[in-house]
Amino acid sequence: MLPHRSDFPHDFLFGAATSAYQIEGHAAGGAGRTHWDDFAATPGNVEGAENGAIACDHLHRMDEDLNLLKAAGFDVYRFSTSWARVLPDGRGTPNAQGLDFYDRLIDGLLERGIKPAATLYHWELPSALSDLGGWRNRDIANWFADYTEVIMSRIGDRVWSAAPINEPWCVSWLSHFEGAHAPGMRDIRATARAMHHVLLAHGRATQVMRELGMKNLGAVCNMEFAAPAQATDGSHQAAQVQDAIYNRFFISGITKGYYPDEVLGGLEPHLPEGWQDDFDTITQPIDWIGLNYYTRKLYDAAPTDAPWPATIEVEGPLPKTAMNWEVYPEGLPHFLTMMQHEYTGDLPIYVTENGMAGQTELSGNPLSDPDRIAYLAAHLGQVQAALAQGVPVKGYFIWSLLDNYEWALGYAPRFGLIHVDWATLNRYPKASFSAIKEALKS
Ligand code: NOJ
Repeated sequence: MLPHRSDFPHDFLFGAATSAYQIEGHAAGGAGRTHWDDFAATPGNVEGAENGAIACDHLHRMDEDLNLLKAAGFDVYRFSTSWARVLPDGRGTPNAQGLDFYDRLIDGLLERGIKPAATLYHWELPSALSDLGGWRNRDIANWFADYTEVIMSRIGDRVWSAAPINEPWCVSWLSHFEGAHAPGMRDIRATARAMHHVLLAHGRATQVMRELGMKNLGAVCNMEFAAPAQATDGSHQAAQVQDAIYNRFFISGITKGYYPDEVLGGLEPHLPEGWQDDFDTITQPIDWIGLNYYTRKLYDAAPTDAPWPATIEVEGPLPKTAMNWEVYPEGLPHFLTMMQHEYTGDLPIYVTENGMAGQTELSGNPLSDPDRIAYLAAHLGQVQAALAQGVPVKGYFIWSLLDNYEWALGYAPRFGLIHVDWATLNRYPKASFSAIKEALKS
């Protein structure tokens, strides 16, 4: 069973999260091509070469989806605006239909008493900017600032909160070092530049939103518990370097204006010249920090001749979700306290994503998802434990409202509280949706 709303502080906020490319249906409404369309069109990158062209068709079913959010009793809806829907070429002439859509989305939320939490970039870069080097090109910080101004001049007066970039690690490392996400590169120099430029873009966008008079601006980083696979020095070092790359690099840059030594050891030669001078821009004051948390990974030392970071991932022993991710709720309070003690002090912390792709729904009744309810209950329990220790956690948002496009894995992993029938696009609330509704009843 899920803990009830009344088991949390009275102002604690519950929300659900989605992102534009994963739900909207990118082919409709005059949006421009993105590097995810290109990545998915390249054989071998995405399961079944699936893309976000139709996705959940949220563009045309927005009212139904907002009614479902309301019916569940959520306080907050975390969504993203799509750069290529607002500016089809990434720069230049805005797409009026795109701006109108986000306008209606905000008004639809406010009419239903739900707080709009906007993210400006959740991974689909306009192809026209990818052609110019995308995140490798320093100019992206200014292109992003201009896009921020266009979209926030339209909706910034009514959003409850805004964050520039979702999960900088995925935008840079996963996409330019591991090649697992668009643009599918595997290049250390590209990675170092993307890691730095993504933070520069965060800073520039934050400056623009402050100039527009916006409040409640934050940053959303993903955290993954990095554990040594064995009790050896090599294993410990491997976990430590991955922890620094994944969990500390971006947050150190944003809140403290430095990069961890363990990362500089490998990346410094590849960072753009004069990178240290950008920290004035990167460390814009923020009002909250968001953590996306799902799982842990085990690491070991790679064979001795492997180049930096010289780590390998080892399969862990714990029960796994349909993503093959271990269920490890204990990692969540680790990061909540780490954030408070080492980086953000009294700043409000939100769990901006947590949830699971189901096993049972793959084979059995798609609406029966007891494992998701158990997953959410376990993680909410850990949030309560962190609150009891005085960590300023102010909200918890579930990934995701709807089953949606799970990037390189296509439409098979189902993270939603609501089942989407991919043939008809009809929505069917799962048992977890009813459980949340019960828990959020006042
Ligand atoms: C984090 C990302 O923000 C989201 O896009 C993704 O679907 C979930 N994790 C699950 O992998």
